[in-house]
Amino acid sequence: MVHGNKDIKLLNSEKHFIDKLENIIKETNQKHLHLWNTSQNYTILSNQISNILEVCFYLVIALYLSFGSIETTDAVVLFNYSLNLVGVSVFIGDFLNYIKSIGLSSERVYQLVNDREFTREEFGEKRLDNFSGEVEFRDVDFAYAPSEIGQKPTQVLKGLNLKIHAGETVAFVGKSGCGKTTALNLISKLYTPNSGAVLFDGVDISELDKDTIRGNISVVSQSPYVFNMSIKENLRLIKPDLTDEEMVSLCRDACIHDEILNFPQGYDTIVGEGGTMLSGG
Ligand SMILES: Nc1ncnc2c1ncn2[C@@H]1O[C@H](COP(=O)(O)OP(=O)(O)O)[C@@H](O)[C@H]1O
Ligand SMILES: [Mg+2]
Repeated sequence: MVHGNKDIKLLNSEKHFIDKLENIIKETNQKHLHLWNTSQNYTILSNQISNILEVCFYLVIALYLSFGSIETTDAVVLFNYSLNLVGVSVFIGDFLNYIKSIGLSSERVYQLVNDREFTREEFGEKRLDNFSGEVEFRDVDFAYAPSEIGQKPTQVLKGLNLKIHAGETVAFVGKSGCGKTTALNLISKLYTPNSGAVLFDGVDISELDKDTIRGNISVVSQSPYVFNMSIKENLRLIKPDLTDEEMVSLCRDACIHDEILNFPQGYDTIVGEGGTMLSGG
């Protein structure tokens, strides 16, 4: 999820992933609780065993002493040894306690998700119910923040003015690194212009809500992230109510349907993290 964070934003599917994460954490917590209960039972049992052992041991020493079979000094040595004997059964309890600490990991995941120190994305309140598709760049300046202190920010776009009318097909052409992807990132509001504005149907996107922006924009990137889930689940990220018929028809259009049927579990095949099981295309 961390690796694919940009795609999660672009697909407007944060909720899907947070729900999934919450389920995983809930499940882990239940297992953790079970482990804790088990370890408590072992601790009680091992304490009882060691108490009984201790009493027996002292009784034997006392008996030997009273019959004069051993010297007092021997009794002291044996007494010290008995502490080691007790140690073994206590160790089992300690070991289970150690396993319990694994549960701390889920706490750390929560910390990451809820951390207030990370910059949160901000969106406006306005909705466009019938976005026609008109996109405009108005005097847009944009620079990426420098990755190191003291470094100069990389100015990428300077005074970009461009109006794309609804239904128009537009291609940005330019040498590598000139800012084509950056311009698309501004339309998806992954970044905000330093000055100027991006407008949808004449409305500055900084005033628009998240669903209006991300729900209306589909990005097919150079290297789309494929999540470690079934093919079906990956496809449903964009459209949760996608029917099986729609899915098959879309995959036929993309000439991948037959290939998917050749996978061990068809559409339910789990594809590896980053789509390692699939070819780039
Ligand atoms: N996340 C980023 N942080 C800092 N600099 C970036 C980032 N992404 C791209 N750049 C820089 O911004 C410039 C434009 O990049 P990009 O828009 O990806 O170019 P293009 O898509 O036209 O090849 C490049 O110099 C690139 O190194
Ligand atoms: Mg690019």
